[in-house]
Order: sequence, then structure tokens, then C-alpha cells
Amino acid sequence: MPVDPQDTLDVLERFEPLSLQGQAPVVWERAEGVYVWDASGRRYLDFSAGVLVANVGHGRPEIVEAVIETARKPLLFSYSFPTHERAALLKEMETLLVRPDDKVMLLSTGAEAIECAIKLVRTWAVRTHGERREYVVSFERGFHGRTAGAQLAGGTPVLKEWLYGIDAPFINVPFPDGFRTPETSFDSFLGALQAEGVEPDQVAGVIVESYQGGGASFAPVEYMRALAAWCAEHGAKLIMDEVQSGFGRTGRWFAYEHYGITPDLVVCGKGISSSMPLSAVIGRRELLDQFAPGAMSSTHGGHPVCCAAARANLEVMKRDGIVEHAASVGGVMATALEELADRFDFVGAVHGKGLVYALHIVRPDTDEPDATAAARIVSDCVARGLMLFAPVGFGGANIKICPPLVITAQEVRDGLEILEGALIREEERDGER
Ligand SMILES: Cc1ncc(COP(=O)(O)O)c(C=O)c1O
Repeated sequence: MPVDPQDTLDVLERFEPLSLQGQAPVVWERAEGVYVWDASGRRYLDFSAGVLVANVGHGRPEIVEAVIETARKPLLFSYSFPTHERAALLKEMETLLVRPDDKVMLLSTGAEAIECAIKLVRTWAVRTHGERREYVVSFERGFHGRTAGAQLAGGTPVLKEWLYGIDAPFINVPFPDGFRTPETSFDSFLGALQAEGVEPDQVAGVIVESYQGGGASFAPVEYMRALAAWCAEHGAKLIMDEVQSGFGRTGRWFAYEHYGITPDLVVCGKGISSSMPLSAVIGRRELLDQFAPGAMSSTHGGHPVCCAAARANLEVMKRDGIVEHAASVGGVMATALEELADRFDFVGAVHGKGLVYALHIVRPDTDEPDATAAARIVSDCVARGLMLFAPVGFGGANIKICPPLVITAQEVRDGLEILEGALIREEERDGER
């Protein structure tokens, strides 16, 4: 029975909170590979991967099969009762461990896994060092999810307003992106701690995105190496948030590999399954084994259908060399985007690596973020058949470009041609003002 897309949009608007609005008003009917179709049959080239989820492409047949097979058994739920699906996924994840004896906690969402990682580090700190070691250091403009702990760790003050009154020992230090924060030496980290009056032996852990999701911004390699060395020297645990950057997105399995560091905990989500809700905390067994049986679990964590999807996803990624493909097609994307950005003065910077980039849209005279222009460019792209999600990051003015990793070089060029059209149109609008 055909459904009128406008009816669907009206129902969503009627019942869902305002916060869920803001994406292009296109009803997703189906999605396959690097394309999304709306109800009228119009096809969009997808530069969003949903929200950096569909790494092996939308509707990957092997994943669909794994989901159907598990549902047909039927095994639609299991809690932490043992299942083959969980065991098979964990065996598949063995190659992704930081150390051979690491353990893995499977959960459902990225924010939930972030909360778990923070809890593991603070529990360890208080048990081994007492309450003095209370601080978790995180970064300005960082994003780790929307639940309380994850949001406290985040680095956007306005997003933390609802947490007023919570006396939380989280400290934000500058993130050395070289654009919004020109100072990129590790001294900025030390200086920020000193300014807060926090001694190294008071730090339980440091949590950092391997690249900042909001702007696809990487820290310099030397900075991250200095950070890892500082954590090791002072006994603070290093948590890498790979919810967005993991599973091939940057042309490596995990983006922390670009820095040549070994984190204590790695937090995964999104691309782990390319589809169903699953997340994980990977890391040191002494951290993961702190809680007695039954004391750390989650009703839907390691859900059998989600685990089956993730296992199939990892098998495809390994079999088809998806990570290597992302690195090579990413090179095409990077060069083309930089050329494009050079031509438009309202593109303040292009950050990214592999198959994730952000165009930082600014007011050319001041470099202030221009959220309105960014939103216009995104709507224009969608109207021209290129799917992008609404701008994110600092000032809500960054346009993220993050297609499924199976995209071909030709499809990258097709998408960038549409983007170029939208940027030219924006330049014309500037001229008309
Ligand atoms: C870097 C990072 N961490 C954590 C999260 C939270 O993940 P979720 O939305 O699955 O809770 C996100 C989501 O966008 C993210 O990008």
C-alpha cells in the first residue's frame, strides 16, 4: 500500500520532538550500496552513510542474510545468556584487539559504550589510587554522545547546560586542530591542566576522539604521541573514542593507528555493524574485569541479531579489503575536495582523511562559522540528488562528507560535481547580496 510521503513527514512532525527535525525532508524508502531511494523512486547518491554507519554500503546482502537467518531461527533476544552469535562476532573481532589478551564488552549505542569506558577508568582509579585520582580530561569541541556522562566529557558548553549543578570532575583542554585552535603543541595540554590546578596524579583518564567528529579534525601525530606517553608516565588511562572513526572510515581499521599509539580502551559503534545498533568497549582485561558477574551488563547489549549483522560486516570488510579501498578512494576525494575548497572563500578549511571530510563554512571576512550558509549548501546538494546530513560541529557550520566506504572513484567524482554546483550557487547568492 503506497504511503504519501507528506503524510509520513506530517506524522513525524506531529509526534517526534523538534530535535529530530532538521534533516532534508526526504522519506528514505530503501537504501542499497551507495544509494538511497525515496518513495517516488528518486535516487540519491549518499555522502552520509546514514550518519557514518553504513561502511560496507547500505543493505549489504551478507548482512541482510545474517539478520534474516538469526531472526528466522528464531533468536530475537538473549540478554547475557550465551549465544553463538556473540561468540562468532568476538572471534571475528580478535584481529582488532589492541593487545592479544584484551577483552570486549558489547553494548548497543555509542554513548552507552562511552559511559561504560568512563566508568571503567574511574572505577579503576578510585580502587587503585583512592578518590584523589578523580579527573577525566577531554577536549574542547569534542563529542561523545548525548547521555549525561558522555555529554559531560563533550566539549561544547551549550550542550552541557542541562547538567548544571552536577559537580563533575571533567576538564576540557584545547583540541589542537590547527584551525579553531592554532596552537598545536602538547604544551597546551600541560598548560590547561596547570591552569585548572590539576596535578597529573589526579587524572584517572583522558578521552579523545581519534579525529573530532564535528569537524573531521585530526590532532598532530607528535601531539597524540606525547599525550599517550604522558598517560603512560602518569598512570592515566587513554580512551580513544572510535565510535565514528573506527572500522575503516579513515583508511585504517582504527584512526588511532595513524598516530602509532596504543590506547588502554577503544570505544566502537556505528560502522561496527554497518547497520544494526551495536557498540563495544575493547581494552585492557584488568579494566574490563573489574566488576563481578552480573554487575556490569545491559539488557540489549550483544543482541544476537546485531551481533550476526556485525559479524557479517567484519567478514565482508576483511574479504573485500574495504579498509584498503577506503584509503585509496579517499586519496581521490582528498585531492578533489582541496581543489574545490581553494576556489571558494567561504570554505574556511577542509579537514579529514580516508573517506571522512568536513568543509568548515565561514564568513570569509571573519572566519566565524556560518551555519546558515552551510545549511543552504546542504539543502541544495540534497535537491540536486546528493544525500548529506545537516551541518554539524563548531557553530553548526561544518558540512560532513562521509560516503559508504565501498564508493568508487567515479561515484566520488559524481558526488563532488553536485557539491561543486551547490558551492557555485552559494557564491552566486553571495554576489546577489
Ligand atoms: C565520536 C562519537 N562518539 C560517540 C557518539 C555517540 O554515539 P551514539 O549516537 O550511537 O550514542 C557519536 C555519535 O555521533 C560520535 O560521533
